[in-house]
Amino acid sequence: MTTRGLRDLPPQALDGTRALVRVDFNVPLKDGAVTDDTRLRAALPTINYLREKGARVILLSHLGRPKGGPDPTYSLKQIVRDLERLLGAPVEFIPDPTAAAATTRRLPRGGVGLVENTRFWPGEEKNDPELAKTFAALGDFYVNDAFGSAHRAHASTAAVAALLKPAVAGFLMEKELQYLGEALREPRRPFVVVLGGAKISGKIDVIQALLPRVDEILIGGAMACTFFAAMGFGMGTSLVEPDRMPLARSLLSQGSTLILPRGGVIAPSLERGAEAREVPSDQVPEGWAVYDIDTATRHDFAARVARAKTILWNGPMGVFETPPFDAGTRAIAAALVAAGRKGAVTIVGGGDSAAAVAGLEDQLTHVSTGGGASLEFLEGKTLPGVAALEQV
Ligand code: 3PG
Repeated sequence: MTTRGLRDLPPQALDGTRALVRVDFNVPLKDGAVTDDTRLRAALPTINYLREKGARVILLSHLGRPKGGPDPTYSLKQIVRDLERLLGAPVEFIPDPTAAAATTRRLPRGGVGLVENTRFWPGEEKNDPELAKTFAALGDFYVNDAFGSAHRAHASTAAVAALLKPAVAGFLMEKELQYLGEALREPRRPFVVVLGGAKISGKIDVIQALLPRVDEILIGGAMACTFFAAMGFGMGTSLVEPDRMPLARSLLSQGSTLILPRGGVIAPSLERGAEAREVPSDQVPEGWAVYDIDTATRHDFAARVARAKTILWNGPMGVFETPPFDAGTRAIAAALVAAGRKGAVTIVGGGDSAAAVAGLEDQLTHVSTGGGASLEFLEGKTLPGVAALEQV
């Protein structure tokens, strides 16, 4: 069974219809301006296809995590100008979805409307069928292109799909499911996964799900410190999750698939100008913390990535926003690009690792727009936003 997609709908039948499209426009903003428009650009193929076919496109998205109703900080109005620039067309902002059906019908063929932040309505996160009904009245069929939100069972991602048919996947959703799905189902081997990030807790399920499927999992980031602490090494002031140490021990006992850093770049603090040096992983002094993988590990991980035919990367190797602790993450990004040039499939999970490869997207097979969603997908979980769509 696969999810029914936009191309399964006869293109000529789209003319004059209203397409209700759930996108993930949860983009970073600073002083009301979009600082990274990746997610807006990622939705363009679906939006433009529908416009070309003469559909009226009504976009639904959340933005941030507003609590307790409308809040200008989280208004989607702030992204209208960027969206208009990218589309090269005006976007009608719809401040309230209730009783907006007439507005959507008045849009010109090929016109675009953007509904205010779905999370301004209390029913959204409760997957409320009443709110879903309000959303469903804004379209003649439903397209979910919000892979980044597919792990949420919300009114605009799940309940609405039960009410408004056809309910199909957009092009971005399909692409994400295809690349991440293929990597899991039939990876070209060796299949190497690189996992980083601060906390082991968010990645445990991924490690457990991937261990039997992969040839190697290379562990970087502060997460590695919990493994070392579990092995009895002193980790100084590094971030360690003591409550996860038994689990770390159990994962380590499952064979030699987990590869830990040979050493780290340590410093007494993250303050600018603080002394930084490299030490083997079992020699982190008191009062110092690990903030990146060391040179030996960079070479080791790069060599393992170079031998792989499929590489999946999620999570930075260090505090990459703070040089000099960005070197490990950059080295992994470069290793993926080099492996890709030799024909390997290179996939980067969303969130921080997507930010770390900004500008390199064209040299990678796929950079996911989903942070939490891509992790849950890799854990093997059913994503409610996908399950709610029609299957063929
Ligand atoms: C994301 O940025 O991961 C998605 O947009 C989901 O956002 P959420 O974690 O606030 O549900």
